[in-house]
Amino acid sequence: MTSNPSGTVALAFSGGLDTTVCVPLITEKYGYDEVIGVTVDVGQPAKEFDEAAETAEALGLDHFVVDAKEEFADLCMQSVTANGTYQGYPLGTALARPVIASAILEVAEEQGCRALAHGCTGKGNDQLRFEAVWRASDLDVLAPVRELGLTREWESEYAAEKGLPVEGGDGGRWSIDTNLWSRSVEGSELEDPAHVPGEEIYDWTRSPGSAEMETETLELTFEQGVPVALDGEAIGAVELIERLNEQAGAHGVGRSDIMEDRMLGLKVRENYEHPAATVLLNAHEALESLVLTQEERAFKQQVDQRWAQKGYEGLVDAPLTKALESFIDQTQTKVSGTVTVKLDSGQARPVGRDSEYAVYSEAAASFNEEAVTDDIEQNDATGVAKYHGFQSRLASRVAQNVAPKEAEAATDGGLASDTSETSSEHGSDGVETEDES
Ligand code: ARG
Repeated sequence: MTSNPSGTVALAFSGGLDTTVCVPLITEKYGYDEVIGVTVDVGQPAKEFDEAAETAEALGLDHFVVDAKEEFADLCMQSVTANGTYQGYPLGTALARPVIASAILEVAEEQGCRALAHGCTGKGNDQLRFEAVWRASDLDVLAPVRELGLTREWESEYAAEKGLPVEGGDGGRWSIDTNLWSRSVEGSELEDPAHVPGEEIYDWTRSPGSAEMETETLELTFEQGVPVALDGEAIGAVELIERLNEQAGAHGVGRSDIMEDRMLGLKVRENYEHPAATVLLNAHEALESLVLTQEERAFKQQVDQRWAQKGYEGLVDAPLTKALESFIDQTQTKVSGTVTVKLDSGQARPVGRDSEYAVYSEAAASFNEEAVTDDIEQNDATGVAKYHGFQSRLASRVAQNVAPKEAEAATDGGLASDTSETSSEHGSDGVETEDES
């Protein structure tokens, strides 16, 4: 595939079936001299690292583990400022990929590698997200599963033939992707969109309907759009996410079951768990609703939606993404304050918010005060109320006048006769059309 391949390849390594078979294939089929495995920590469960390390050892693979949790958590927080969701779910897998890809590239450069490799298929989003980062470097990019057209079945047979260290069936029924921000489950019986998943697919969340779930409230403090304290105690992003995943997961908060439109156009059934993300996103939006003006909020929704699209594509460094962030960051200078959130059978509902930037006057909105402000009286709204809906009233009166003409035309079998009379009656029912200026 590459002209005169030689040297070392840095492989994104999880210890799963795909990346395990890639190890011998890179030397056998591509002709490179050596492979190193790189596993990047974005908050996967500890047992995934143990599995990766064991498999690497059994393969005789030089294995590097990079901790990128802080960096990933910061990106998750940036997504909170953008109220970042794609088709309703928080961007867990998507945002992790550029972080992982950059960390692998760094190791590859330190180790003097010639190429980078991943085990993604040609059907998913991750190949695009990885390569968006890698192809900006001078290194070769290999995608053995996609380029050699591998199937899981072929991989299993090949692994058995080669005596590769893969546990029976690659450790489970589903394909699971876990990081700090979300846990995603796909494959097997879940591929049938009509199949109703059982509780066994969930690991982070208790079933929302289950009994003995007392409600609980928590308070989040935001500074410039970013959560910095939980119940009044300062807390870093990684720890906050971990704590909220536990706390809100126990209340069944943060499950999504969606038909996801992937970048290549395929629809895929995805199940996600994301308790912390749901709490933080809900709380953040509640605070924005207090401190941003109506028009800032309306415009920001479009900006947010576009930011999330770039996030989903894994293009977090694109010029457009950065430009959108300039707008978002400018609005966030006011998003400081506290939000109280109630965890209640699967829901994380904001039930109180407070900020010194609140665009809000209790006296102005109160039913107990006659005046709106010192120089605006309730009664000043009368003129506004008279104008409100003016155009709609006008339009419906005009429509009433035009309608008989059409009905006549229809009973005439389409012959338009005698319509002059009805049309001459315009303006006779009190709508003073000549007054419009
Ligand atoms: N489809 C999702 C995305 O591209 C997540 C895929 C996660 N992978 C998995 N094996 N569950 O963001």
